[in-house]
Amino acid sequence: MRKHILHIIIIINDPQHSLNPLAQLPLVLRPAAIRCVLIGCLVLLAGSCGRSEFTEREQTILQSLSLENLGPPSSESNKYAFNKQAQQFGEQLFHEKNLSSSQKFSCASCHLPGKFFTDGLPTGVAAGSTNRNTQALHGAAWQSWFYWDGRRDSLWSQALTPIEAPQEMDGNRVAVTHFIANTPDYRQQYESIFGPLPFSGNESVLLTSATPMGDQEQKRTWIELPAETQDKINTVFANIGKSLGAYQHTLEPVTTRFDQFIDEIKAGKKFRQIKSLNKTELQGALLFLNDKKTQCLECHNGPLLSNDAFQNIATGNFTGPIFDFGREFGSQAAMLNEFNCQGRYSDAAPDECLHLIYMNRDTVHMRGAFKTPTLRNIPNTGPYFHDGRFTTLEQVVRYYANPPAWTRPDEHELRPGFELEEQEIIALSRFLESFAAIEQSE
Ligand code: HEC
Ligand code: HEC
Repeated sequence: MRKHILHIIIIINDPQHSLNPLAQLPLVLRPAAIRCVLIGCLVLLAGSCGRSEFTEREQTILQSLSLENLGPPSSESNKYAFNKQAQQFGEQLFHEKNLSSSQKFSCASCHLPGKFFTDGLPTGVAAGSTNRNTQALHGAAWQSWFYWDGRRDSLWSQALTPIEAPQEMDGNRVAVTHFIANTPDYRQQYESIFGPLPFSGNESVLLTSATPMGDQEQKRTWIELPAETQDKINTVFANIGKSLGAYQHTLEPVTTRFDQFIDEIKAGKKFRQIKSLNKTELQGALLFLNDKKTQCLECHNGPLLSNDAFQNIATGNFTGPIFDFGREFGSQAAMLNEFNCQGRYSDAAPDECLHLIYMNRDTVHMRGAFKTPTLRNIPNTGPYFHDGRFTTLEQVVRYYANPPAWTRPDEHELRPGFELEEQEIIALSRFLESFAAIEQSE
């Protein structure tokens, strides 16, 4: 084999041969060597010329990225997460525009099922404009933290936030309770899942607009309500969240060519036998796996290609009107949220909420850190990054190939100096395309 490699290098370096190296190959070379020429560029550039199969390390890593390792999503704070009725009720609520103040916006206005639950926009727009990119929802149930800054710790507590956010649905928990209580079909579904609704629907309090998250007037109205009434409204509101959360528990990542690739690896295929990825993509895969060439796997690992953590890759914005400190504020907000895992409306015992208990509270370290997003179905869910600054995966890879310089040591976590060649940047970008869903969502 060693002799053949020498030939290949010579051929590749010889301008006379470079246009059609195959035609110039000495006949004595066996087919194996010819195949090696075909993939010669790729293995050369991936720093692995001369081999035709994956190393044991590469195989082990690739298998660790298999969807089969996902297991069931955790749901300790929502005991209805796998309740079929709650899932169906949640799906209807996901599309229900009457949860918004203008009756124009639902969750699905921004999380479009046909677009893998994103909107294709840099930043989400409904009742107003948000400063962040609308996140995809496939596989969300397997994560511990929600939003780019992780300011919510469950799908159900997350779901309550956009309903009341002025830029999103601009609704409020009292109006939601009124709507459910007075919509016979929803009332019936609610009661069959959660038991009797604590309101007949005719109470005058339900005609007010009140929430502790709203404007001054809404806050004042809320504070003036008796604690017992607040508790009943919060209970209904939390159950609406638990239904929306239950529905989102059904949204699994959609299979990709990357998964077919893992199956081929498991079956012991060598480079030349791989059908799921083309040669450039295969070169990209080897770069992705090579921690001397790239750092991707440090953060994008496990079956969701995310470490479920917050990392600083120099994307925070600390000045100007649209500042974004990321996780620094997110961790504090998660702790203070009345609907968090340790709160009154959670179905978990406080000591079950391990993610809250062991949360990294070092806010300074978390300044400018954002949640590592999943790379699953990533070609279907652009634009990219928390502010939607990039429209293509190639732009993302170029960012990593040339990260912002440090102005002080360890300013961010991206190591300088990977020095990816132009061709390698293209290969890595193409490899990311293999994370595209094979089927349409929903
Ligand atoms: C304005 C459009 C808009 C509407 C309406 C909206 N969302 Fe979102 N959604 C977003 C944006 C933008 C983000 C990221 C916001 C952030 O990080 O601050 C997001 C984040 C999320 C996340 C976090 C996903 C993750 O990986 O962390 C979930 C879950 C979610 N939305 C579900 C919902 C549900 C359920 C509803 C309806 C009750 C809803 N959204 C309504 C735009 C919207
Ligand atoms: C130190 C951790 C870290 C490393 C290393 C890293 N990423 Fe990321 N990645 C992140 C974080 C955090 C974000 C989100 C940043 C933001 O939104 O501002 C992200 C975002 C992305 C996105 C956009 C996803 C989306 O939904 O918007 C892609 C694609 C991506 N990374 C691919 C890669 C590739 C390829 C590599 C290796 C070249 C890599 N990442 C290395 C942490 C990391």
